[in-house]
Amino acid sequence: MSFENILIDSNDGIAVITINRPDKLNALNKATIEELNKAFKLADGDKEVKVIIVTGSGEKAFVAGADISEFANFSVEKGQELSAKGHELLFDLVENLSTPVIAAINGFALGGGLELAMSAHFRIASDNAKMGLPETSLGVIPGYGGTQRLAQLVGKGRAMEMVMTAGMIGAADAHSYGLVNHVTSQAELLDKAKEIAGKIMRNSSVAIGSAIRAINAGFKDGINGYEEEIKEFGWNFGTADFKEGTTAFLEKRRPNFPGE
Ligand code: COA
Repeated sequence: MSFENILIDSNDGIAVITINRPDKLNALNKATIEELNKAFKLADGDKEVKVIIVTGSGEKAFVAGADISEFANFSVEKGQELSAKGHELLFDLVENLSTPVIAAINGFALGGGLELAMSAHFRIASDNAKMGLPETSLGVIPGYGGTQRLAQLVGKGRAMEMVMTAGMIGAADAHSYGLVNHVTSQAELLDKAKEIAGKIMRNSSVAIGSAIRAINAGFKDGINGYEEEIKEFGWNFGTADFKEGTTAFLEKRRPNFPGE
């Protein structure tokens, strides 16, 4: 499948999805969101792909937000539809994938850009990265999950301040807030993401998918995370990966997980 706005490089179990509109600071227009939807589904469905890394092209931006030129004249109804579609096609999709998604934030991650990074399972950033939700400066609020996920990740008070001031924070503050797990130089960013991916890939992809579902369950309304954990835990006992993992331990050898 060929894409206009993104690049995909799949190697050694890692799919790197790069948003590639550098002259627009990789802003998420409708076409890019649709391509990302296809690319994430494709990577998630590929048994060879154990980890997905999402990043932006160029040295300036991860993603500088939703494409403002596309929604500047929208009505109330079209605004609501834009938000709902975005949740469904990209942000909820990424959060709920069974394949781990790491966001490698290589520059500006603003608005929809930070929202995409927050939909990923965790984030690392280069030391030049700047993150924020500037929507209130445009007379609107974050509409791709930002009001919820930022508060989950950094706490309600910090989220309130970031959204109200529409300001940006640097990588060091993002690290101290727990918004990003690691900070590296820009040159080392992808290598760092791949190094972490390498550690993830040694483990059972089936158990990892199950863990993602259990952890996410605790952040969903009307679902009891502990009950989901019990269900997922039991389910793991029926998998070939569980048999291989426990057998390998008892036989004092490294497991060779079938991924089933
Ligand atoms: N939507 C559409 N286009 C965008 C964009 C966005 N969110 N962010 C950047 N661009 C475009 C600019 O319009 C410009 O295009 P042009 O060269 O055709 O005029 C190009 O990307 C480069 O951006 P520019 O503003 O010239 O770069 P800068 O270095 O001066 O400023 C930012 C960088 C990130 C501070 C600035 O681009 C910005 O504030 N962007 C919008 C951020 C935002 O509000 N995001 C939330 C959207 S809901």
